[in-house]
Amino acid sequence: MRTQVGIIGAGPAGLLLSHLLHLEGIESVILESRSRDYCEQRIRAGLLEQGSVDLLNATGLGERMRRESLVHDGIEICFRGQHRRIDIHELTGRQVSIYGQQEIVKDIIARRLADGGKILFEAQAREVGGFEGDKPFIRFEHNGSEQTLDCDYIAGCDGFHGISREAIPANLFKGYDRQYPFAWLGMLAAAPPTSPELIYCHHPEGFALFTMRSPTVSRLYLQVAVDEDAKNWSDDRIWSALQRRLGDHDGLKISMGKLSQIAVTPMRSFVTEPMRVGRMFLAGDSAHIVPPTGAKGMNLAIADVSVLARAFIAYYKKNRTDLFDSYSDTCMKRVWRAQHFSWWMTSMMHPTSSSDFDNERQIAELDAVTSSRAGSTFLAENYSGLPLAPWR
Ligand code: FAD
Ligand code: DHB
Repeated sequence: MRTQVGIIGAGPAGLLLSHLLHLEGIESVILESRSRDYCEQRIRAGLLEQGSVDLLNATGLGERMRRESLVHDGIEICFRGQHRRIDIHELTGRQVSIYGQQEIVKDIIARRLADGGKILFEAQAREVGGFEGDKPFIRFEHNGSEQTLDCDYIAGCDGFHGISREAIPANLFKGYDRQYPFAWLGMLAAAPPTSPELIYCHHPEGFALFTMRSPTVSRLYLQVAVDEDAKNWSDDRIWSALQRRLGDHDGLKISMGKLSQIAVTPMRSFVTEPMRVGRMFLAGDSAHIVPPTGAKGMNLAIADVSVLARAFIAYYKKNRTDLFDSYSDTCMKRVWRAQHFSWWMTSMMHPTSSSDFDNERQIAELDAVTSSRAGSTFLAENYSGLPLAPWR
């Protein structure tokens, strides 16, 4: 099998890249180890920056999103009985939108297949090679047989646990890593949103986040121990922790419903630099991950592939390679901005049982940020995201 761009991974990064290339007549094949159903049901991110929404709209992917997404002008931040609102729209002129990652994945898969795109599900990439020379290839297993995809370029969009980053010789990249001493327990509830806006809550017992997916589905997160087993959390234990942490502020009454998809998410910051080696490019979680507190992961994946697609278009249409050369540096500016923001939000919002000093410092910081226009503007600008270059 042969194509122009061989893409590993049908997450937001790989799917959107394949769509953007198709719009300019550039061929790609996506290899995805999981089934279509699994990719479409995997519950993960929910918050889209304005730039991500604009890109999806500008490239013809926004039809259902425009109808079903929940557009937000602000967020709430709670700490020690205080309830403060950050008015993102007033401070930045931008908005953020709630639209589940799995809905974006469904929309792009449907569009790629309608456009005759090639996505091989249950095709596990086993080896990438040739990218340091001029004959890149991906060996993969599909329908019980080993096959090879030959391509001009490889896009490693295979997430944090994929094979593409692992294939780069250790002397050709640097990894930056930080792990956090806590995790999040995330869950869906068949319950109408408790509040019209997201609530980020610092509480002595641990952080809690209230968010949503639709007018009938809430999404909730609780800070838990780093090695926590989701099985230790009965529905009763989850609801009483949510009520204690979120309800501490203005006596908020949490709306309840059947819980599902209860799972633990570890917290990690990781950056690979550079994001390109020869004819292989990394994009999205394969190159970098952030702790989820700033809601940046999927937005970074979308931003990376918008830069990468432009580089492929410049090459295939105008024989230019300068955008390949600048790809990693262009992405790195946004990546490190998002790394700082995600680390900052995480460090400010999660209390620790080991240091009263740190807890008081967090409260002072939350008070300073939310009571000052300059502090709130810094948070709002980063939360709503750096602008993306217009697609066309
Ligand atoms: P992925 O979505 O991980 O996709 C990679 C794909 O590659 C997968 O489908 C995988 O099956 C496939 N793959 C892996 N290895 C192989 C192989 N060898 N062969 C073939 N296929 C392979 N981000 C936000 O922006 N906003 C949020 O609100 C937000 N909230 C989050 C909440 C939680 C609980 C979590 C866990 C994450 C959150 N994120 C958020 C992060 C976001 O989900 C990720 O950053 C995003 O999924 C990255 O997309 P991706 O396409 O790079 O990688
Ligand atoms: C969601 C997740 C986040 O990590 C966040 O900061 C905001 C929203 C969500 O799943 O909706």
